[in-house]
Amino acid sequence: MSKPLRKVVFPVAGLGTRFLPATKVVAKEMLPVLDKPLIQYAVDEAVDAGADTLIFVTNRYKHAIADYFDKAYELEAKLQEKGKDELLALVQGTLPRHVRAIFVTQPEALGLGHAVLCARPVVGDEPFGVVLPDDLIWNGPTGSGKGALRQMAELAEAQQAGVIAVEEVPHSETDKYGIVDATRIDERSALIRYMVEKPKPADAPSNLAVVGRYVLPGRIFQLLEQTTPGAGGEIQLTDAIEALLMEQGKVLAYRFEGTRFDCGNKAGLVRATMHMAMQDPTLVPTVRAFLQQL
Ligand code: G1P
Repeated sequence: MSKPLRKVVFPVAGLGTRFLPATKVVAKEMLPVLDKPLIQYAVDEAVDAGADTLIFVTNRYKHAIADYFDKAYELEAKLQEKGKDELLALVQGTLPRHVRAIFVTQPEALGLGHAVLCARPVVGDEPFGVVLPDDLIWNGPTGSGKGALRQMAELAEAQQAGVIAVEEVPHSETDKYGIVDATRIDERSALIRYMVEKPKPADAPSNLAVVGRYVLPGRIFQLLEQTTPGAGGEIQLTDAIEALLMEQGKVLAYRFEGTRFDCGNKAGLVRATMHMAMQDPTLVPTVRAFLQQL
């Protein structure tokens, strides 16, 4: 893990069934929180962490994501012609110039571990990040704090170890997450002893849940190749990380600084939207008044 983080993988081939019927045609990663799609928050966080190569693991229904990061010639020309510079900057700013986007396909939905494995030809044998765009993580009053992935990349480099983001969840919800059993190192980090995917509350070793951020060594790909289907009949990233743990003995759990919104469900998307609205001084009075009225 000696190199800095340059590559980040975004598994975006999921069906987004929780948001049907919208997701019949709109990729769930394109659902907006105010004016930005979820994928933009994820990309901004990866770029903040130092990434210059973004790998989207996608499928045939997700063309909108590639379109979104592509150049929009007609729109840009129109905005330029009309002197709408601020809007032009927004349209051109979806991907900074020094960053490239690479799209690989996951032909079959065989699980998160399988999706990450699809990125192997692009990532090669170097440390990389994984960001699940459903988990929007916002740090600082205006998002100006260090992003969660940057915090993790710094720890991974300093400690020469894989780092997984974790957060406490209600015990009754352990079956929605990867759950870790870990020994505390300090206020934010812990040494993982054991990891298990979606255990029933009665079988869960703790309520410390994996959230959608990982910094992993290239070695994980070989382990993923040997990983057989686990929870839900899917190839689980958690199982490959557990194998990495057995082999290397050192993978860290990290309680990031920031607030996580689980935008994979309606309540989380509503919370994120309200949170972002309350960060925008032009919207605060309207939101406050409307909530009071409700
Ligand atoms: C995935 C991972 C799980 C993790 C979760 C975080 O599950 O498999 O370990 O806790 O993301 O959002 P999914 O939500 O894709 O079922």
